Amino acid sequence: MARIVIVSNRVPSSAARGPQAGGLAVALKDCLKDGGLWFGWSGETAPQTCADVKIGSVGKIDFATIDLSREDYRQFYVGFANSALWPLLHFQPGLVEFDRAHFETYLSVNRIYARALAALIEPTDLIWVHDYHLIPLAYFLRALGVENRVGFFLHVPFVPASLLSVLPRAEKLLRMLCAFDVVGFQTHEHLRDFEDCVRNMLNVTTDVAGPIIVDNHPVLAIATPIGIDARSFARQAKRSAHSRVAKRLDESMQGRALIIGVDRLDYSKGLPNRFDAFGRLLDRFSEHRLKVSYLQVAARSREDVAEYQRLKRDLDRRAGEVNGRHAEFDWVPLRYITRAISRATLAGFYRKARVGLVTPLRDGMNLVAKEYVAAQDPDDPGVLVLSRFAGAAEDLTEALIVNPLDADEIAEAMHQALTMPRAERKARHEKLFEKICQTTATTYCRDFLSALLGGPYDVLT
Ligand code: UDP
Ligand code: G6P
Repeated sequence: MARIVIVSNRVPSSAARGPQAGGLAVALKDCLKDGGLWFGWSGETAPQTCADVKIGSVGKIDFATIDLSREDYRQFYVGFANSALWPLLHFQPGLVEFDRAHFETYLSVNRIYARALAALIEPTDLIWVHDYHLIPLAYFLRALGVENRVGFFLHVPFVPASLLSVLPRAEKLLRMLCAFDVVGFQTHEHLRDFEDCVRNMLNVTTDVAGPIIVDNHPVLAIATPIGIDARSFARQAKRSAHSRVAKRLDESMQGRALIIGVDRLDYSKGLPNRFDAFGRLLDRFSEHRLKVSYLQVAARSREDVAEYQRLKRDLDRRAGEVNGRHAEFDWVPLRYITRAISRATLAGFYRKARVGLVTPLRDGMNLVAKEYVAAQDPDDPGVLVLSRFAGAAEDLTEALIVNPLDADEIAEAMHQALTMPRAERKARHEKLFEKICQTTATTYCRDFLSALLGGPYDVLT
């Protein structure tokens, strides 16, 4: 069987201390159960970016990483990737900061990644590249003569042509994206938006079965939603619910209902609106006063990006306001934590939560939504409140679906969740659990790799 080579900017570091947040690393770890090579950025900066790789391995997975220079980190990662592409792909053109020098660095870092990777691969390897940091990678690999099949999966949303064309150099980027053999998206909506861009910006017809042809190269565009190993996460949650920390959480709740939110501290996650919504729940549905606690884990992320620093200041202030206005001497309604918590611990917390709040303004998929469902006790499950703009909402229609911009709508959904009869909770959960068991990390990996291989690809389960 061909070796799988995963390429992503973020590689989970075995050396990193403490828990790490982010859906990409979580999902791909599940995909590499059979082993393979994982290549990307070490997460470290060095005096110079160079194609010398550091090699290591954990179990069946080999890791190869390179360091970025401080300047490349600033222009490539903080700059073009996270201050231009990230806001654009999350439908926030007003936050896009474009700088031509950053774009040039984005290309040159991709060229260095391509050189380092070309030295590591065998002719039969299947190369699977992940996310918006690495859109030009196949283009540069081809320029080096690499003939392997190379696929790309975008973990974040894609935008229609009217929005993509806001970005200077968008057409060049789109052509580079089409240098992959297969391009995968989280949802059918993202796939349609990609086709819209190809039609309207490159003047290429997409009305064909199979690959579309861009610059004489066939590229197959597909939707392969990402998932989790739901059954094993459910087992983990059952165990973790009896852990020492979970018991501490229980004791601190004193019989109150728990509402939980777990996100990276990112403006795409809709956290300010969620805090407002919780305030409105307490204002409008006063029967919940003293009876609920809302725990928001907002793991600090991309702290060198100015917009994330602004968001953190805003959330700190709003959390203070909610508690200042509503708390009693023996009740803190909002518990706000900006450290990451381990996924295993979170599993137990989800199981104890009566309501899971997942209200991003836009999200590629959102794994927390699936984890929350997986973690529930099927006999007495909690209720998922889910943004219609999370990729997960395409499938998880039995959640309470909300528009995340409407704080009142979120508050009403929280109230509905807190008062929902057990029979309805069970019926909704049963359907949701069935769905997350159908689209798992394994099916995601199998479907994408089969498309890349051009035939069935078996993944160990
Ligand atoms: N996560 C975690 N600890 C935290 C916060 C998040 O382990 O403190 C994990 C979470 O369980 C999920 C992932 O990080 O598996 C977040 O993925 P998601 O798709 O929800 O959002 P992303 O961070 O990729 O935008
Ligand atoms: C999202 C992105 C990933 C990214 C992760 C964590 O899941 O889709 O590409 O790795 O967030 O962000 P970071 O900037 O820390 O890698």
